[in-house]
Amino acid sequence: MRRMVAETRLHPADLVLPAFVREGIGAPVEIGAMPGVFQHTRDSLRKAAVEAVEAGVSGIMLYGVPEEAKKDGLGTAGTDPDGILQVALRDVRAEVGDDLIIMSDLCLDEFTDHGHCGVLDEQGRVDNDATLERYAEMAQVQADAGAHVLGPSGMMDGQIGVVRDALDQTGHEDVAMLAYTAKYSSAFYGPFREAVGSSLKGDRKTYQQDPGNAREALRELALDLEEGADMVMVKPAGPYLDILARVAEAADVPVAAYQISGEYAMIEAAAERGWIDRDKAILESLLGIKRAGAQMILTYWATEVARQL
Ligand code: PBG
Repeated sequence: MRRMVAETRLHPADLVLPAFVREGIGAPVEIGAMPGVFQHTRDSLRKAAVEAVEAGVSGIMLYGVPEEAKKDGLGTAGTDPDGILQVALRDVRAEVGDDLIIMSDLCLDEFTDHGHCGVLDEQGRVDNDATLERYAEMAQVQADAGAHVLGPSGMMDGQIGVVRDALDQTGHEDVAMLAYTAKYSSAFYGPFREAVGSSLKGDRKTYQQDPGNAREALRELALDLEEGADMVMVKPAGPYLDILARVAEAADVPVAAYQISGEYAMIEAAAERGWIDRDKAILESLLGIKRAGAQMILTYWATEVARQL
């Protein structure tokens, strides 16, 4: 009877797999703080994409990790048509076509030698508007490479409008945008920064949101919708379920949540010590995110959970 009356159910199509592809490696490299998650080679990424399709996962979100020597102040590798992310987008699109929604992280932090999500001004501050110009270029190369959806994750003001215009002006009217609407400046991104070999020193407090603030998430939502967001996201997920519920209430577009690297690491680490039932904890964490209002959940467990479901 519990099954019959359940209000919330998980379905493989709710899930999106975030995946990392690293340039210049001969075999996949496991991420220390994310057991079971790998920096992929181009080949192993294609395999992971096929496995996701077979499991019924609906999308994949790709992150590129360039060779260290290719990082610079402007994040040039992020707009190089032959940069690792663009190459991987083409690979995955060729491999799975339209059977998987291919999403692309649109941000400079993986490609800059200072590790910030934007370019810096002379005083070393993130220059919002100069960054937007870089994002417009990124939008075009990622769409050219075959992304179905772009995920601008840098939290620059005006990024959604600028990316929409760039897409429309380059013949990519049908490429959609998943806006990182409420992205909090979080300690739980730690393992991700290892995953992308981040060069960041310091923090992102000048552009990511303050964990104590809820109302500004709604302001970010209003701006993103006005600028043309097709879907909106709250990130992290678990510690921000109230934000997710409020955004889901206020938004008239699909809402996503990102169960991030630190959320993954906590459950894996506790399970490894035998302190928690891993499989049950994973499902419960995802169910909670869905119950709070997410239609789509980005999770590193996407393929595994989809198989189980
Ligand atoms: C920034 C970005 C971050 C994540 C995805 N894109 C975090 C950050 O360093 O601010 C985090 C994802 C995760 O922790 O799983 N481009």
